Amino acid sequence: MINLVHIMKTAMYLGAAVALFRSVVAVLHAQDHRGHQGQEQVALEVEAPVSKPEDSWSLGNNGLTTVTEQKEDSKTLNPDLAPIISYTPLEANNVAKLKEQPPPSSYLSQKYRFSVGSTGDQWAITYTPYNDNLTCKSKAAISADVAAIAKKGFTSIRVYATDCSTLTHVGSAAALHKLKLILGVHIDDTILMLAQPQVNEIITWANGKWDLVEMIVIGNEAVFNQFTTAAMLAEFISQSREILREAGYTGPITTTEPLNILSQHASTLCPVIDVAAANIHPFFHPEVSADAAGDYVALELDRLEELCEGKQGVSLETGWPKQGIANGDAVPGVLEQWVAISAIKKMVGGRSAFLSFADDGWKDKGDFGVETSWGCSHIFGLDKQGGG
Ligand SMILES: *[C@@H]1O[C@H](CO)[C@@H](O)[C@H](O)[C@H]1NC(C)=O
Repeated sequence: MINLVHIMKTAMYLGAAVALFRSVVAVLHAQDHRGHQGQEQVALEVEAPVSKPEDSWSLGNNGLTTVTEQKEDSKTLNPDLAPIISYTPLEANNVAKLKEQPPPSSYLSQKYRFSVGSTGDQWAITYTPYNDNLTCKSKAAISADVAAIAKKGFTSIRVYATDCSTLTHVGSAAALHKLKLILGVHIDDTILMLAQPQVNEIITWANGKWDLVEMIVIGNEAVFNQFTTAAMLAEFISQSREILREAGYTGPITTTEPLNILSQHASTLCPVIDVAAANIHPFFHPEVSADAAGDYVALELDRLEELCEGKQGVSLETGWPKQGIANGDAVPGVLEQWVAISAIKKMVGGRSAFLSFADDGWKDKGDFGVETSWGCSHIFGLDKQGGG
């Protein structure tokens, strides 16, 4: 007898394969306009290991045949084959329907004093303005990146710091494309006052016009990385809040940590944040496979809202690596990334900032060798590309 779970998994991987193929085709087409950068992106995706569940290509005729016929070709990713691919049988929505999922909760209701995000399934993506050699990206490169982010359907960009002229370069491009900013005050020193100038920079840049700013995030995993204690961070957030409010900023102010850190210090941190934010990474939990990533993030967001009662829970970093070493059931890969991110998008995309716009080649490889492989913008906005 055929195992239903197996069929579901197989169907999911087939859906992922089709979408991956389409995304690469889209990139190949886009390359005409984008030139060299586009080529690099393609090379990277084709190189990445594509895992394939056993027997997955021999499912027979149940609407999947168009995909099955593409088995060999999909490895070489020939764009000329694009027209004969039928995309209707299995795509993101159908794959996700294989799991019974509740409708998204109406988290943007009036029950929160501060709320961010979108009522749809897509909100923010994280962005760092660095080249792989750790120099700052040029204004032109940043403008092109921000334009791409807008085209992919995001409504907000999360940045981490104010260096590399982030405020002016990302800010002006964001304004042009009607994107909001989630600004960061980067903390990487035990002397918190060294981060103070970033708060001042934000105030000077905004110059009273705060419309562009959706949220200000003071510290990214600063307690987790032991740059500070929860008590000191809480004090710094409170001080910064006073200064920001005086400067006319009335929007939400928060920090973000892994949920277990926030959980340990909830009584200290929850009172000083307007939105309950956390970096929620299913991949670092060995029991969470790619297809369970959406459920995982949704449950963690529930936990977050219970922890900081009365505050909206949002994930300021979530995603899945496309390359690296497996962490138990959490397996990196191009298809796995597509499956995981589609599931997260479907479940809680409206209150998730996806990590990240592009692979961060400037980072160390880190645990499981995954840190440079989180770029995921190619998964979004496929329906908005190619003029169709
Ligand atoms: C760093 O990388 C950028 C983009 O590839 C390049 O334009 C620049 O010349 C490089 N700078 C150095 C110092 O290598």
